[in-house]
Amino acid sequence: MIQKEQIRVIKGLLDHLDNKTNVKADGMIKNPADTYTSEDRFQMEWNNFFLNHPQIIGFSGDLPNKGSFMTTDDFGVPILATRDANGEFKCFVNVCTHRGVIVENQRRGEKEKFSCPFHGWTFNNRGSLVGYPKPDHFGEIDKSCYGLKELPCVEQHGFLFVHPDENGVIDTQDLLGDQLIEEMESWGFKDLILTQEEEYVTDMNWKLAIDTFGETYHFSTLHKDTLFESFYGNVQMFDTFKRNARLSLCKRQIEDLRTTPEKDWDVRVGSLPVYFLFPNIIVNVLEGGIIVVKEYPLENSPHKSVSKVSFYFTPEAVGYLEEMKNGDEESFNPYIAFGEIIRDEDYVAAAASHKGLRSGKIDHILFGQNEPALHHYHNTYREALNLEPMPLIKSK
Ligand code: FES
Ligand SMILES: [Fe+2]
Repeated sequence: MIQKEQIRVIKGLLDHLDNKTNVKADGMIKNPADTYTSEDRFQMEWNNFFLNHPQIIGFSGDLPNKGSFMTTDDFGVPILATRDANGEFKCFVNVCTHRGVIVENQRRGEKEKFSCPFHGWTFNNRGSLVGYPKPDHFGEIDKSCYGLKELPCVEQHGFLFVHPDENGVIDTQDLLGDQLIEEMESWGFKDLILTQEEEYVTDMNWKLAIDTFGETYHFSTLHKDTLFESFYGNVQMFDTFKRNARLSLCKRQIEDLRTTPEKDWDVRVGSLPVYFLFPNIIVNVLEGGIIVVKEYPLENSPHKSVSKVSFYFTPEAVGYLEEMKNGDEESFNPYIAFGEIIRDEDYVAAAASHKGLRSGKIDHILFGQNEPALHHYHNTYREALNLEPMPLIKSK
């Protein structure tokens, strides 16, 4: 983030703190309950946001070396992503061209060739079929016609994008816009190291998980014994970038910046910038790295989802965490604790909310004036599905 913007965010937060104000939308909005529970709506989302939309499957650190690979099966098309001998990022449909079996079952690793477990057809990390057993018995085939299906993919600004449709287009300029691209580039995501992954399966709509990141109005209640100790609740700055957004949370440590010259301010000391990358990715930017949360529906249902939480750190932060670990195995790891708070507090509340919505006894939920990230996300979501925006309701 450019320094001028960092200063604007910190000054805005201090201003809200000093005046007991918060970022404010011009009204409240009512979000219909069926946004989260309707099967028809779910099919629209699945087609528009998952099967036919570029997906961020990870960061450069997911494929750290030539010969690294990862697999994912989160959005309807099994994916095998590789980094080839030239360091190039490649994506394929992880489906054997012989009889359709999933070729690689490990989540990640280092491998230059992938051998299908059924009959042993073997593909290299550029997708070519390089061999199959007993061609004299099976029959001769033109191997060049039986490579893994390649998918459009792009590695930019540290992100790994793939399009599940082989004819899909990934236009990062169009997706993110100039300002956000510059900001993402400035964080140096491409140099981060993946250190840990967690998965939380929850009985809730995937968007309810996203909504939990969209305000800090709940910090003094839901997180009163955890995050509220290090964050001021109900104090935020909010900015949009096309369909994406940045919600800047207010750390209590912001007080340190009052006595620091502005030119030395690091926004991450006083704030936690939380990016919403439409439609399903949350990136929390910390001083030593990022915590990325990817939300996916599960079992083709609006009622179940999985949150995939990945921790990426700078090489310096990794070294620091290793030292901490060596000193005391039980030592508190603030980064992992963040994941546990999401799981044990936010998602418990969100699952309860899903249950409430599914009862059919309320027809809408209400997003307050102090929850502009939720207004933006849900009106953007509606625009992307060609639905009418939700009108603002004036405060009485
Ligand atoms: S299905 Fe893959 S080798 Fe036969
Ligand atoms: Fe929360």
